[in-house]
Amino acid sequence: MPQNTSSTREIPETDSIPRHVAIIMDGNGRWAKGRLMPRVSGHKQGVETVRGVIKACIERGVEYLTLFAFSSENWRRPADEVTFLMQLFIGALEQELVKLHENDIRFKVIGDISKFEPKIIEFIRKGEQLTANNSRLTFTIAANYGGRWDIMQAIRKMMAQSPNHQFDFKEESLTPYLAMNYAPEPDLFIRTGGECRISNFLLWQLAYTELYFTQTLWPDFDENEFDLAIQSYQQRERRFGRTSEQIQVSLTAEG
Ligand code: IPE
Ligand code: IPE
Ligand code: MG
Repeated sequence: MPQNTSSTREIPETDSIPRHVAIIMDGNGRWAKGRLMPRVSGHKQGVETVRGVIKACIERGVEYLTLFAFSSENWRRPADEVTFLMQLFIGALEQELVKLHENDIRFKVIGDISKFEPKIIEFIRKGEQLTANNSRLTFTIAANYGGRWDIMQAIRKMMAQSPNHQFDFKEESLTPYLAMNYAPEPDLFIRTGGECRISNFLLWQLAYTELYFTQTLWPDFDENEFDLAIQSYQQRERRFGRTSEQIQVSLTAEG
């Protein structure tokens, strides 16, 4: 199956480890506030959680990990918090990129990074090139990302390929132009911090993803919390519009 083929067309196994996990890392500010610390110290602590989750993914055999680090709407935050987040991002990258590479991790960024400082853009591109052939885990950071932005930029690119405006577009026509065209759709979505919303994350790709929401704040999201999310996923029955009986028959035939 080509990697960008919609995973919603097959009947996948759910008793196993999800191939692609996508996470909204939320609750850093509240974590800090609860400790009477400035919001930014929550973001700093959040970077430690990222390290732990990457390790957990590798140990459990997750192939794709996608983290929402900065949404297209997060520019609305106070300027000093935005600046801090940018510095934290570049600092963490500078520090971790070699380690990612040594661990055979492919690094990718999705989102409109043209709005970032040239230094950051260059660093991202270099990092992506350095790690392009790594295969143990594909680690994607969504930065200045919005699901609506993604669909719009994909449509623009797709239409530019059809200058005569001879449109006969199917769903599969759009997917090669989406920012995550290199990955299967997420099997498991996790949001920490208690909010039950998608906040303009991967709108197209989450169509049939299993959703998991936890009250745990991102800086507190450890290996055990990750396993609870996986266990919840393993109890789901993914039907993709079929009946439960059809799924059971297909699983018996496979087994
Ligand atoms: C998530 O934590 C990190 C980013 C959005 C960058 P928040 O900063 O949103 O934390 P809360 O939701 O205010 O607690
Ligand atoms: C979503 O978190 C974006 C990221 C985690 C990067 P927010 O904290 O910005 O989401 P809302 O505003 O509560 O929906
Ligand atoms: Mg938040």
